[in-house]
Amino acid sequence: MKKRLLSGIQPSGTIHIGNYFGAIKQFVDLQNDYDSFVFIADFHAITTIQNKENLSNNIINVALDYLACGLNPEKVCLFKQSDLPQVTELSWYFNCLTTMPYLERATAYKDANMKAKEVNVGLFDYPILMAADILIQDADVVPVGQDQKQHVEYARDTAQKFNNIYGETFKLPEALILKNVAIVPGIDGRKMSKSYKNTIPLFGTDEEIKKAVMKIVTDSKKPEDPKDPETCNIFAIHKLFLDDNNLKILHNRYTKGGIGYKESKEMLLEEILSLVRPMREKREMYAKDLDKVRKILKDGAEKVKIKVDEKMKIIRNRVGVNI
Ligand code: TRP
Repeated sequence: MKKRLLSGIQPSGTIHIGNYFGAIKQFVDLQNDYDSFVFIADFHAITTIQNKENLSNNIINVALDYLACGLNPEKVCLFKQSDLPQVTELSWYFNCLTTMPYLERATAYKDANMKAKEVNVGLFDYPILMAADILIQDADVVPVGQDQKQHVEYARDTAQKFNNIYGETFKLPEALILKNVAIVPGIDGRKMSKSYKNTIPLFGTDEEIKKAVMKIVTDSKKPEDPKDPETCNIFAIHKLFLDDNNLKILHNRYTKGGIGYKESKEMLLEEILSLVRPMREKREMYAKDLDKVRKILKDGAEKVKIKVDEKMKIIRNRVGVNI
């Protein structure tokens, strides 16, 4: 029996190569080895997007992104979170076992709290809804980026709390973080993130991708100067694309001198475009048939619903709301 894999991403805008290498690529690479469930975390997105058009466009876009990147709906169960409102019920039971100070320690909340004047309750409670997503499905592994690791730990803690109080009900999930993709650097060297405005869009036009690549921050060494690849932001992104051999060749050119940053950026642009072009075509194909995309999500939700309803029956019994 294959282990169960569950993960999702928030539909909070256009995806970038950090989302691809940090998350989606792993879902694609692992789809044959696990019984896979990948969803669109639209309830989570409402913590920041309160605009009907934006939200629904973003949801469709993530579905297209998933399919374009190579998730195969015959192998992976694709669905959207809001088609499974049972997770909000479960998150309520969890909320009642969770203390405020415990949630205040979540780094995502701490970051948001530092930036925003006032954080909404949904954002504060984000890890608990995420715990419900994971635990309701009895997931064994949750592939996520390094930044989401703490959330998976919250899910484990929450499972344990519930199990202690109500009896053994939930499996403890493991975070799955592939080493070489743990943190994808952005064009300024910090982690690639929309909030830092340092992203390279995955499905941008050639021009948009080029613009981002040409803006990668470097020092002012001349082409002939020897350069340290390990401190170069362009090289850091090459690492995602090149195999060991080609990376070694590029490494040597850096240390010897003779490659300018402009040339290195042009090479990187080609690497990105050759990844993106076939995916872009696939995306356009699906975009012409949105009914098909909606059907994929609907079928996915129907499939997970069967197991989730069984699980909810057990949970409701344990909690005591069934009389
Ligand atoms: N927090 C994830 C993100 O920011 C999305 C998410 C919600 C998720 N629920 C999840 C990921 C459950 C893995 C498992 O993209």
